[in-house]
Amino acid sequence: MIIHPAKLIRGRLTMPGDKSISHRAAMIAALADGTSRLRNFSNSADCEATLSCLTRLGVSIERDRDDLRVHGAGAEGLRVPAEPLDCSNSGTTMRLLAGILAGQNFKSTLTGDASLRSRPMARIIEPLRMMGAGISSNDGRAPLIIAGRRPLKAINYDLPIASAQVKSCLLLAGLNAEGRTEIVEHEVTRDHTERMLRWFGVPLETRDVEGSRAVAIGGPARLSARDVSIPGDISSAAYFVAAAALLPDSLLKIAGVGLNPTRVLFLKQLQSLGLNVSPGEVWDEPNEPAGVLRVEGFKTRPSSESTITLRGSLIAQLIDELPLLAVVGSQIKGGIEIRDAAELRAKESDRIAATVQNLRAMGAEVEEFKDGLRVSGSARLRGALIDPHGDHRIAMAFSLAALIAQGETEIKDAECVAVSFPEFFELLDSVVER
Ligand code: S3P
Repeated sequence: MIIHPAKLIRGRLTMPGDKSISHRAAMIAALADGTSRLRNFSNSADCEATLSCLTRLGVSIERDRDDLRVHGAGAEGLRVPAEPLDCSNSGTTMRLLAGILAGQNFKSTLTGDASLRSRPMARIIEPLRMMGAGISSNDGRAPLIIAGRRPLKAINYDLPIASAQVKSCLLLAGLNAEGRTEIVEHEVTRDHTERMLRWFGVPLETRDVEGSRAVAIGGPARLSARDVSIPGDISSAAYFVAAAALLPDSLLKIAGVGLNPTRVLFLKQLQSLGLNVSPGEVWDEPNEPAGVLRVEGFKTRPSSESTITLRGSLIAQLIDELPLLAVVGSQIKGGIEIRDAAELRAKESDRIAATVQNLRAMGAEVEEFKDGLRVSGSARLRGALIDPHGDHRIAMAFSLAALIAQGETEIKDAECVAVSFPEFFELLDSVVER
């Protein structure tokens, strides 16, 4: 994909359905009694992987573009899959499904592409074993062979890493455990699983444990089918928001986008950098808040002299937007430093290395740390050959960099954006003015 610099961004967009919420809606509807209608379901390759695994588990799903009817199999209705379940590139598919499969009366195998097979799975294997599931793996990585057990044992578990995927895996396992499974998280992570389980009729308890948040589920629990309207994906919107905010004279509106408080920290960070981003008209979709985002290009370049530092408890809530924030930070006078973010190395690619490599290729001054990076500010980016390492979020973050750079940029293997956002380049083209 060749990208030329842009003058400004102008228009009104809607985003495809949120990927995180879509995964959860499909899996939870698949376990419910009755038929659920899911509107604005994500068209990402990741969510396709979830649907294909659910189909192989015997769940019947009718699809009319982004409108799905999931005929729930009920608490005990999943079928033994004939073959390994291929989660493709999707960590969410693998980690959440593992929680469901741990509580079934059968054996199943979860596998994925080379990137997913290299990612850490011990973080779910250990607690699922404590709950009584038998799991063998390739030294803590997929393929995972799961010998399910019903009922599982309920556990109290302190999350050693901030991860919505691990929390969600254990909540879904808790559906099939005998008694109360409680998970304590020390940093806020996205709460879509909690919201979706409640929406499908499972009461969850939350409480404060010495300043941390605990969430508990009582099992075995049954789910009743519900209809779900999935808001637009705010992590996909982020690239457009950043582009419009950094290009003077831009004006962009994004309607119907998810504004869940655990996902909007990125917007607040842009605001604190002095960029004109305003969420408005928040309304509650049945179980998730959504609204309109309005973004204006800056009139004068944000001039904060000091380096912006992102670290500690902020990181988990910004996790998918950090490569993009590194690019944005290169345009702020004092630059940006990101620390405590070693988790970025365990994503679809090593996102610290990929961000450093590509920012340097565009002429930015960058220091790499084990747990993050520092980018000097006021960088004059120049077009370059970008290698996203097969990672959709790196490809999209550097497409934004290409818009604000001088000269032409080529993004290698740009089709990887389909992992979360197949029409990314088409939509970008529809709002860019050159
Ligand atoms: C996700 C959680 C995050 C995020 C990923 C989606 C989810 O991963 O990076 O893109 O849907 O729960 P971790 O929970 O591993 O941090």
